[in-house]
Amino acid sequence: MCGIVGYIGKQKAAPIILDGLERLEYRGYDSAGMAVYDGEKLNQAKATGRLNVLYNLTRGGQTLPGTMGIGHTRWATHGVPSTVNAHPHTNTAGTIAVVQNGIIENYQALRRRLESRGYKFASDTDTEVLPHLLDNYYNGDPRKAIIQMLQQITGSFALGIVFADHPDHLYSVRKECPLIVGKGEGEYFIASDVTAILKYTRDVVYLGNLEIADLTADGAFYFNIDEEEISKEVSTVDWDVSAAEKGGYEHFMLKEMMEQRQAVRDTLNPRLKKGEIVIEELKMTDEEIANVRKLFIVACGSAYHTGVTAKYIFENLARLPVEVDLASEFRYRDPLLEKDDLVVVISQSGETADTLAALRMASEAGCKILAIVNVVGSTIAREADFVMYTWAGPEIAVATTKAYSAQLIALYLLAMKFAGARGYLHGRKLRSMIDALTKLPDQIEMLLNNREELQRIASRFIAARAVFFIGRGIDYAICLEGSLKLKEISYIHSEAYAAGELKHGTISLIEDGTLVAAVSTQASLSEKLLSNIKEVKARGAVILSITTMGNTDIENESDYTVMLPETHPLFTDSLAIIPLQMLAYYIAVGRGCDVDKPRNLAKSVTVE
Ligand code: G6P
Repeated sequence: MCGIVGYIGKQKAAPIILDGLERLEYRGYDSAGMAVYDGEKLNQAKATGRLNVLYNLTRGGQTLPGTMGIGHTRWATHGVPSTVNAHPHTNTAGTIAVVQNGIIENYQALRRRLESRGYKFASDTDTEVLPHLLDNYYNGDPRKAIIQMLQQITGSFALGIVFADHPDHLYSVRKECPLIVGKGEGEYFIASDVTAILKYTRDVVYLGNLEIADLTADGAFYFNIDEEEISKEVSTVDWDVSAAEKGGYEHFMLKEMMEQRQAVRDTLNPRLKKGEIVIEELKMTDEEIANVRKLFIVACGSAYHTGVTAKYIFENLARLPVEVDLASEFRYRDPLLEKDDLVVVISQSGETADTLAALRMASEAGCKILAIVNVVGSTIAREADFVMYTWAGPEIAVATTKAYSAQLIALYLLAMKFAGARGYLHGRKLRSMIDALTKLPDQIEMLLNNREELQRIASRFIAARAVFFIGRGIDYAICLEGSLKLKEISYIHSEAYAAGELKHGTISLIEDGTLVAAVSTQASLSEKLLSNIKEVKARGAVILSITTMGNTDIENESDYTVMLPETHPLFTDSLAIIPLQMLAYYIAVGRGCDVDKPRNLAKSVTVE
């Protein structure tokens, strides 16, 4: 969740670290700090609040001279956000500094042990045991001390470590948490996310679990916990730096919403070949696909919502039973997994702790795992049997938009592939669905271009206290995501309700002026939803409906209506979500919220 950046080379380290941290702020942003070696000693600066506080404190890094250092932006887990708890943490002499992302699970026992040996702790963090442990083992050889420390700690973590008496070296190691090494010309970087260093290099090394990097300005040495050298491949990242910058937009979220045509097109096009759906990454024959007994879809947050949509599509199109689970539930509920079940895990970051644990559990049960992931080389991508990438590019705003849209496309393609292999989709039906798919990018763009209308509607609901989203079938899945978008960035309480459930409780919350967003894209359910709209209207609700072009019955009952262009009924999520994303965005902007970095949230949740 936290962000790590480290630099060793010939340039001033602090401004590079600050620049990298700024790009990682979406990973955590309640405090930040840096330690930089100035030729004699390690100097530190820490600040609570957003990164610009640290930036101002160090005058853009100028007060911390030196060409080697580490930095961190924190999302508090152990200990409140404070300067004392901010990283880096050091030994008492201030000669060993550590930044950490993750959790050291046995830190309490270690702390007690170290305290009994006279070590004094300043913070409430789990991380502080690390510099003291290193201090305890250190007798001039950092590599040995790091290995001994690793033998003592449990948990999942990524670390950046520096020693004042080895100022030409920057050390890094990871276990479960993401961390990459960037290779420049006469310089090396470490970062918990490639976007932090894209400006400087696109050549990266993905560290494996418990692989340790010893970096100098001129070279890198990688070794394992037995101190044996390991050779690592340098990969080139094909994201360019502009993809991780705002490019003139007020917020990353707006920029990323506007990139949805591209994200959808890039995810779709390579998999449509001569009127067929080709998913090369899924190395299963049609016969193997046909033999899948059951599909489990497992994910967190918005990725889970794409799974809810996918269940309707797979069951309708491929007649295959699907269970959709939140990864945090799935991993503990002892699901009835069998060898011929396929488990699909969905994750933008490819690092979400619960999703990763679910993957491992299913894999141990003998199931094949297909991962739908956005970040190339991420842990989930590396551990799955098959990886289907969503080509959405880097997503920085905490609230996902373009990755969500790309995930939907990947799932449509997968469901169609399964339907074909199982004998339910071919000929005219297949052609018309492919035709509908290829129209989606432009239809999405058309809706995005209609944002002024959404801005106007949003301006009326800036002071709303609660918003309800109602729909049936796929429209209910859309509501789940629309509601999450609104609440996470605007802090307005919102609920998504399967419209038929209203009468079982929620309707008592509707009062004069309550906004109800009604999603109605399924012709077969339109009349039912119309009745639900009437019910809430009768209790004073104001209705914003999202419906398909020509549905005048719904329009006539609504105060505001957004009409969607025509598509296949199973693909409507891709269109209906656009106005709901915009509604959330413009309401949040109108309320003065920090849209890209909503309070208490982080983009990539690498702790349980
Ligand atoms: C966080 C993000 C969500 C995201 C979820 C799952 O909560 O704020 O936007 O949907 O994690 O993340 P993943 O990277 O696994 O898709």
